[in-house]
Amino acid sequence: MKFLSSRRRHKAVKPLLLVAALFLMGGLYSVAVPEQQSSADTGTSTQVEEGRQLFAVGCASCHGLNGEGSSEGPSVVGVGAASVDFQVETGRMPMAQPAEQAPQHEVTYSREEIDALAAYVASLGPGPEIPSPEQYDPAGLTAEEIAAGGELFRTNCSACHNFTGAGGALPNGKYAPALEGVTPKHIHEALRTGPQQMPVFAESTISDENVRQIIAYLETLQQEPSGGLTLGGLGPVSEGLWGWIIGIGGLSLFAVWIASKGARSK
Ligand code: HEC
Ligand code: HEC
Repeated sequence: MKFLSSRRRHKAVKPLLLVAALFLMGGLYSVAVPEQQSSADTGTSTQVEEGRQLFAVGCASCHGLNGEGSSEGPSVVGVGAASVDFQVETGRMPMAQPAEQAPQHEVTYSREEIDALAAYVASLGPGPEIPSPEQYDPAGLTAEEIAAGGELFRTNCSACHNFTGAGGALPNGKYAPALEGVTPKHIHEALRTGPQQMPVFAESTISDENVRQIIAYLETLQQEPSGGLTLGGLGPVSEGLWGWIIGIGGLSLFAVWIASKGARSK
């Protein structure tokens, strides 16, 4: 590394190298990254037709015959296959009856039926596709990348889902669920489709690579026994409560003790 040691002669070398590296990266990037697929996977026409029929029976009462929405449910035009896959495969949809937030129940559709429903909804308008394993499989990430996932999680997710992913209450009786045991694919889909009050995290904000890091981080959270008392892991509410009981309780006891000593020394 001679050019680094002879600093005075080559003051401009470092910045120049940096610029060159940036150009190289940019060039490599444009070569390596494939063209954005433009919603290619809209399924075969028989699959779409099968999905249309399933939709008419199980979903149209709330979402309208053409997915346009009704007073009982939002429009699903343009929500994409990923949203259908997420909603149906996590047991949120079909909703049994109108409610503030769809509770999760047993999954009522087979894998083929979910694919058909997803293909039908995707045919109504372009939206996020069902991701492929290389977009969410966290295998092979380094410790640093997993740590970066933790950073992303704390910045973007913990406000609603808690630092430990234990979930938490939201206003108006809604809630952000615990993330333990959620499959990597559903985590990816949740980010891209933003169910309920969850914001949509598009690829421009959180890349597939970042999503894999977050998933890997969540997996390490589940493997590690939590350090110290978890206090139920319920976040601000229970921790605040315990802080209150132990902290304020201890202070009051201390005050009583001082008062009694003060009284004695008079
Ligand atoms: C009883 C009414 C009802 C039925 C039946 C129903 N849904 Fe829903 N659906 C809703 C409501 C209300 C929401 C919005 C609230 C929520 O997400 O919790 C929703 C949300 C969705 C979303 C998310 C839309 C978005 O913006 O991302 C999808 C996708 C969806 N439903 C698909 C389906 C499919 C597919 C079926 C049939 C298998 C179905 N729903 C059946 C009421 C219903
Ligand atoms: C503003 C609050 C909010 C933020 C921020 C948020 N979420 Fe969510 N998230 C929710 C809510 C609410 C739901 C439940 C939606 C429903 O039930 O339809 C949810 C659902 C999920 C689910 C589905 C869980 C399941 O049981 O199927 C996953 C996975 C998820 N979020 C991950 C994340 C990740 C990762 C981030 C950060 C990148 C994030 N969320 C940021 C509110 C939030």
